[in-house]
Amino acid sequence: MTEKSTLIQELETVQAKAEAELASLSDEGGLAKWKTEYLGKSSPVMQIFKRLPEAGKEERALIGQFANQVKSALEQKYELKAEAARQAALADTLKSEQVDVTLPGRAPMNGRLHITNQTLREVYRIFAEMGFQVYRSPEVESDENNFELLNIPAHHPARDLWDTFFTKKEGVILRTHTSPGQVRAMREFAPEPIRVVLPGMCYRYEQTDASHEFQFNQVELLVVGKHITFANLKGTLQEFVQRMYGKGVRTRIRPSYFPFVEPGGEMDVECFVCSGKGCPVCKHHGWLEILGCGMVHPVVLKNGGYDPEVYSGFAAGLGPERISMLRYRIDDIRNFWANDVRFLEQF
Ligand code: DAH
Repeated sequence: MTEKSTLIQELETVQAKAEAELASLSDEGGLAKWKTEYLGKSSPVMQIFKRLPEAGKEERALIGQFANQVKSALEQKYELKAEAARQAALADTLKSEQVDVTLPGRAPMNGRLHITNQTLREVYRIFAEMGFQVYRSPEVESDENNFELLNIPAHHPARDLWDTFFTKKEGVILRTHTSPGQVRAMREFAPEPIRVVLPGMCYRYEQTDASHEFQFNQVELLVVGKHITFANLKGTLQEFVQRMYGKGVRTRIRPSYFPFVEPGGEMDVECFVCSGKGCPVCKHHGWLEILGCGMVHPVVLKNGGYDPEVYSGFAAGLGPERISMLRYRIDDIRNFWANDVRFLEQF
């Protein structure tokens, strides 16, 4: 009888301890540990079954029954607790991972055209309306096309106007201007008339500062045909300026020297900030220089395959970055290719 009461007492003690501990638990980790300790194979309750032979024959049934009662009581209590813990964990997750469907969505980053491409497209559009085609020519050029055939022989001091990037290959350079495209277009079209714009990146081996960058775009204009005169040059460029900068904007052409044109000039537009009165943008001159131009030099016509006695032409070169700088008052040309979105996304 003593054995029976000992085992039963043990069971009662274990049950009380297990229930007290269970009551203090609420998290799933703690509950799992508790389950191993009180309901696992080596738990005291389960061990009682193995120890039944210690008890007298008639007591075994009673103890076994009681042990079973304790086991299922603990299992039941455990299940209740575990279910509560699962619900609590689920509620926590739902709360912490809650999605507020009323929040506005995040707008995706929209790409945009680079400011220079916007300006270029406007330039193309204006010249397209006047019957010009876009003609592309390479950025890596021969020394011959970039200088020689444009009437700038080797050792001629005029070469100093362009600081050049040379490649390791003899006679191959990065073009310093879009003018070599003139020769390419002429050689492709001669003796047909030509009306093209030649856009693209140019490179100069220069110290950079607010108004100098070693890469920049140019748009070259080339018209070749019979009876092309300086009046055509002036009229075309004036029309371009009116469409680009606004009706009524005044222009002037000053004589200037470029080896591939004769006569050569530079075109200014009346400062559109101060209307010619003088301001910081035009450095108080009232005029802004926007392009170089001139009548195609007979030597260049001949190099392109046109007889200068029969054909004539005009050419011009303008800088789209400069157009954008004037239009948006951008004070540093290095912004264009620095790839800073804070600058780029303004346009
Ligand atoms: N190629 C010249 C430059 O880079 C610009 C230029 C001047 C182009 C006069 C022309 C022109 O076609 O006629 O400085």
